[in-house]
Amino acid sequence: MKVLLVGGGGREHTLAWKLAQSSLLDKLYCAPGNPGIAEVAELVELAADDIEGLKNWALENTIDLTVVGPEAPLVLGLADSFREAGLKVFGPGHSGALLEGSKVWSKRKMKKWGIPTAEFAVFDDFDEARYHLGRFYGGAVVIKADGLAAGKGVTVAAGPAEAEQALYDIMVEKTFGNAGDRVVIEQCLSGEEVSVLALCDGKRLIPLPSAQDHKAVGEGDKGANTGGMGAYSPAPVYSDELARKTEEAVFKPLLKGFKDEGIDFRGVIYAGLMVSDEDLNVLEFNVRFGDPETQAIIPRLKTDLLPLLLKAAEGDLSGNDVEWTSNPAVCVVLASKGYPGSYEKGLPIHGIDKAEENGKGRIAVFHAGTAIKERHLVTAGGRVLGVTAWDRDLKKAVNRAYKAAEQIEFEGCYYRKDIAHRAL
Ligand code: AMP
Ligand code: GLY
Repeated sequence: MKVLLVGGGGREHTLAWKLAQSSLLDKLYCAPGNPGIAEVAELVELAADDIEGLKNWALENTIDLTVVGPEAPLVLGLADSFREAGLKVFGPGHSGALLEGSKVWSKRKMKKWGIPTAEFAVFDDFDEARYHLGRFYGGAVVIKADGLAAGKGVTVAAGPAEAEQALYDIMVEKTFGNAGDRVVIEQCLSGEEVSVLALCDGKRLIPLPSAQDHKAVGEGDKGANTGGMGAYSPAPVYSDELARKTEEAVFKPLLKGFKDEGIDFRGVIYAGLMVSDEDLNVLEFNVRFGDPETQAIIPRLKTDLLPLLLKAAEGDLSGNDVEWTSNPAVCVVLASKGYPGSYEKGLPIHGIDKAEENGKGRIAVFHAGTAIKERHLVTAGGRVLGVTAWDRDLKKAVNRAYKAAEQIEFEGCYYRKDIAHRAL
């Protein structure tokens, strides 16, 4: 099979690494990819959101399956456009992608479909939103820009002043452009977060093992929110009991909602849950693999990934046995100094080979923000690398990941030292 993977981050490197091990694979392409992905795939110089360019390229190169990593091309309708052209694609069409592409749409559907989520209200006028702020939920609120904002459109406000500032930034300053035309103000929930992903063929779901992300930049979950500073899988907080509850309260109504509204969702659905005392709420849905959750989940998959993605794209995941190792995995993200604020790029990276050699087949270093400059590997993003390690128990996996991380060097390399602290 000829497979085209769309995207170029750590999540895509992980998918490429696993797809490259498939016995069904003849050739893997990735657009635009990164230097890590280039070790297992041929890179195609097309941007992930160049829908027409990608479609024409896939047709010309008789691609059997396209796998979409990031949300933006899905919200833009990549999957619809590919399917109309007779191409198989793993990823939902525009209507399904709105679950992530519009917070307002997503919250309204959750309410309509009976999926537990925080109380909320929607505003398209700044003065009205500000006026209502004080009357909602006594100041403990979360402000969400409606559209895609690269994971930065959400503010968990410590008090009314911060909430008002967030409203101002989103709705008046338009920090996130059109995504600020509408906002969701919602009740702030407390508890522990867990990411639960499931493959979906439009009619049925195959849940993947749970994972926990670390969103804050600093140890002890302090500081600004990032795209994710590390992850581990499984998350012990996600008990069998909670998995059963999630199936009943979230996945079943979701599938029914898809059916009722004619949404043929073929891809991966990611439920960001908040759990407390066996209570659960959905904070958000994403319509793609999590980053860095994927870096901790996929290395635990024993089954060939390619047929699973293909079957989901074909709309028939029935009869597929999926095997996972019980060994936990942990991913530590190595970031540029200054991230999630501004940071320098183009700094030389050393030591990846040494780290992999010493990892004895139980680590993988996934590239996120890297580039090649004058034949040297350099930093090219805020999140630079994800070091994943797996072992018999979590403690061993964590130690192995940090040992590998220590061997990798670039100027200003920063990583949290407490990934998986909740489970340890
Ligand atoms: P979202 O993009 O909606 O998942 O929001 C990003 C992050 O903001 C989540 O992972 C949570 O850490 C936090 N968050 C979102 N909604 C809430 C809420 N209702 N209560 C508390 N924290 C939230
Ligand atoms: N790790 C959070 C996300 O992928 O949205």
